[in-house]
Amino acid sequence: MKIFHNQTELSSHVDGLKADGSSIGFVPTMGALHNGHLSLVEKGLHDNAFVVVSIFVNPTQFDNKEDLVKYPRTLNADVSLLRTVSDTNIVVYAPTVEDIYNNNVQSQSFTFDGLEHEMEGAFREGHFDGVGTIVKRLFEIVKPDRAYFGEKDFQQLQIIKKLVELHNIPVKVIGCPIHRAKDGLAMSSRNSRLTKDHRNVAPFIYKTLKSAKNKFGTKSAQKVTEWVEEQFKQQPLLELEYFIIADTETLKPVKRKSTKKTYRAFIAVYAGDIRLIDNIALN
Ligand code: PAJ
Repeated sequence: MKIFHNQTELSSHVDGLKADGSSIGFVPTMGALHNGHLSLVEKGLHDNAFVVVSIFVNPTQFDNKEDLVKYPRTLNADVSLLRTVSDTNIVVYAPTVEDIYNNNVQSQSFTFDGLEHEMEGAFREGHFDGVGTIVKRLFEIVKPDRAYFGEKDFQQLQIIKKLVELHNIPVKVIGCPIHRAKDGLAMSSRNSRLTKDHRNVAPFIYKTLKSAKNKFGTKSAQKVTEWVEEQFKQQPLLELEYFIIADTETLKPVKRKSTKKTYRAFIAVYAGDIRLIDNIALN
């Protein structure tokens, strides 16, 4: 497996593959890879001759310094895991902060037609400027035909689609379903930092989302939201940050349900210091 730490070398390797007529898929990650990430890589290999996986803990998208410092960095284990998927058709790009930011570790500022003001944008200041900055930069370096993003970060997926549209970037953005542990907890690199007790109660998040989906069939968004908030009040180990039912396209909170629109429920929860997010399609 080829591993590059430098953008010039990565670009010239990928340019060579493209010159031979190979299509390139791209899976950007922050590492600490799990089966959720691997499901994106597998989809990429199904659609393309080669898949570039970037592994880079992007400092500009962290609003919480402690979260950045404690974010797991496990490059050797990540590479071993990727080898189990393919040793020949995956290219790893694991740059340094200098390679990406050239000693100017700052975000560009973006607008994404208002998508950036909702949910994660409201609760994590500057987060989507950081994500927009790194993903645009990575698209310029890798120049992939297709790029794969998980619905786990549904708002991020919609924002990347908007980034590509507004900046005319020649890449097809493909959304992939949420990969869950057997007990329903959405896989996340941050799950490895949960205490045993927090890990044991964490499946409550998806269980509550599924019940909310059922209730949304007959009840208003407000009633469902009140019900969810009540459930979390009775769960001392988990602290609800937000539960929001929003329009899938605009991500704006629903006021009155329309049969012509699709909705999703979005949730952010603290399990101790660890912030977990999840979402579910409602109709
Ligand atoms: P990271 O959290 O490492 O996630 C990388 C990709 O894997 C994202 O597209 C994310 O949605 C997807 N993913 C994570 N957990 C998943 C799961 N359980 N099921 C399906 N897909 C899952 O998202 C980022 O990194 C960063 O913001 C990044 C896009 C790399 C920019 O720095």
